Amino acid sequence: MKVKLRIKRFNPEKDKEPWWGEYDVEMDPTDRVLDALHYVKWHIDGTLTLRRSCGHGICGSDAMRINGVNRLACKVLLRDVAPVVTVEPILGLPVIKDLVVDMEPFMAQYRSVMPYFVNDEPPPPRERLQSPEERAVFDDTTKCILCACCTTSCPSFWARGEYVGPAAIVQAHRFIFDSRDRAAAQRLEILNEPDGIWRCRTVYNCTNACPREIKITEAIAEVKKALLFSRL
Ligand code: SF4
Ligand code: SF4
Ligand code: FES
Repeated sequence: MKVKLRIKRFNPEKDKEPWWGEYDVEMDPTDRVLDALHYVKWHIDGTLTLRRSCGHGICGSDAMRINGVNRLACKVLLRDVAPVVTVEPILGLPVIKDLVVDMEPFMAQYRSVMPYFVNDEPPPPRERLQSPEERAVFDDTTKCILCACCTTSCPSFWARGEYVGPAAIVQAHRFIFDSRDRAAAQRLEILNEPDGIWRCRTVYNCTNACPREIKITEAIAEVKKALLFSRL
């Protein structure tokens, strides 16, 4: 099938403004957008810059805006988005080159919520046990691959880049509700800051964008509830 790719290009070393590159390619309907981008890079213009690693929806590195929606390029089949496919970098993070953005502000927000297990109590002889029911409480939020599709589709994040964002809240949720962890109160305090969880206006963009189908808005609501009804 014939596919026209419209790719937002920007090389800060020579471009004053971003510009649209158009590339006509012949692909199979079951090829992914990532395959088409590879075709352009390998056969038409080697300067096209994009980030990807696993190619199978696991690493989270190829988040981009495809026909106006945040997706992983390796998970979108061309037959679902062709004949004209518009590809842009995700919004709200500085563009380094073409489709590659600087993830550092996103990672700083992630680190800010203490996304690691905290428990200074002496460990039991074998292991810290947890029942299947206790594990189920945060099972959904363990699936996050930190792709940033959610945070960079959030209008509150676009309006204010300091907002901690849905991905960091998902990560905080994963530990706040872990029965073995002891730092829930600290994380809730962090999320109670002015640029914390209350900037969420429950618009659902994040949930719709998540390639792991995490119920992000539900997780955010659970954390808000914990703050209101005080695990603090
Ligand atoms: S539900 Fe909250 S976090 Fe998600 S997109 Fe909307 S405002 Fe952003
Ligand atoms: S919650 Fe979903 S969309 Fe957000 S970073 Fe994690 S995997 Fe990506
Ligand atoms: S390349 Fe790893 S998720 Fe797409």
